[in-house]
Amino acid sequence: MNTAAASHRLVALCAASDVEPDTPVRALLGNVAYAVFSLNGQFYVTQDQCTHGPGSLADGFVMDTEIECPFHQGRFDIRTGQPTAAPCTEALRIWTAHVVDGQICIDPAEGRCVGNGSVPA
Ligand code: FES
Repeated sequence: MNTAAASHRLVALCAASDVEPDTPVRALLGNVAYAVFSLNGQFYVTQDQCTHGPGSLADGFVMDTEIECPFHQGRFDIRTGQPTAAPCTEALRIWTAHVVDGQICIDPAEGRCVGNGSVPA
């Protein structure tokens, strides 16, 4: 697959300049909500809805490399989507963030889960 073909699948979520390190951005594509994070100069995209319930992770609290859900204070690693604190046990879907012309873009079909989703002991 060449780069030009791959780039045709990319869809913009928001402007990179809108994403502050402590302030994730919620972006909608169709009826799917995504949370966009800026961490140490890198951008990350996860599903916005917590896997434990209705919490919007874009409304949560960034704590170093983790996002804390505003509903029950479960946490996930922003980089991998892995749950890091109870009551969350199921990993988030994540997407590779591409910066194109100042926009954060993803391939919506690429969403994936990493690892087994278990909370480390
Ligand atoms: S809804 Fe997120 S921790 Fe419960």
